[in-house]
Amino acid sequence: MSTLARQYTLNPPLDESELLPEPVDQLQNWIAAASEAGMTEPGAMTLATVGDDGRPSARIVLCKGFHDGGVCFFTNYESRKGRELAARPQASLVFWWDKLERQVRLEGPVERVSREQSLEYFRKRPRESQLGAYSSRQSAVVATREELDARMEANEQAFAGSEIPLPDSWGGYVLRPQAVEFWQGRRGRMHDRLLYLRDAAGWRIERLEP
Ligand SMILES: Cc1cc2nc3c(=O)[nH]c(=O)nc-3n(C[C@H](O)[C@H](O)[C@H](O)COP(=O)(O)O)c2cc1C
Repeated sequence: MSTLARQYTLNPPLDESELLPEPVDQLQNWIAAASEAGMTEPGAMTLATVGDDGRPSARIVLCKGFHDGGVCFFTNYESRKGRELAARPQASLVFWWDKLERQVRLEGPVERVSREQSLEYFRKRPRESQLGAYSSRQSAVVATREELDARMEANEQAFAGSEIPLPDSWGGYVLRPQAVEFWQGRRGRMHDRLLYLRDAAGWRIERLEP
């Protein structure tokens, strides 16, 4: 690890006047900018959930679009995150785009999307990914890699020439944010931080110290 303090100077300052009224629209702009900047997974975001025991856990998932003011991702409902969201349907998402020196943090309640939306997205995925989703009991302990490969192979044969069914345990979630912070790196650690907060009147924006 370098001990040199990096200076963040890539982008112009982030000013209140530049922000769109809806934070999810602003987020879409920043994801598009990260894509244009050549980031390989501009939609990669860290999803933090909380277990029954109050312990947080985090992992990366991909943002797969926006729905009704919220951010969508797809996963296995019986995975660790799925079980945690069933018990405590609140989460936090964090994006970091190093090529732009930008971070976005969102917090809010999480709901499953409709089965129709999950099916629509599932059908768009490559067949191999559908088969993987069908074959994996995500987050369960498996004795060996071979067991997994054999299950995948057996399913490939079972569904040869037919559609892979959408598993009951697989689908999307939407996080509808109540707080969204846009962070732009600046010189001397005097970064810009603009926080959208939702109240009865709509969104208000506050500036936070870096
Ligand atoms: C770049 C990247 C993208 C990922 N995208 C997803 C995703 O969209 N959905 C998903 O379920 N897991 C995704 N994963 C795997 C998760 O990080 C995680 O390993 C998995 O969902 C199991 O998490 P859990 O045991 O906490 O439920 C991704 C991992 C990486 C590194």
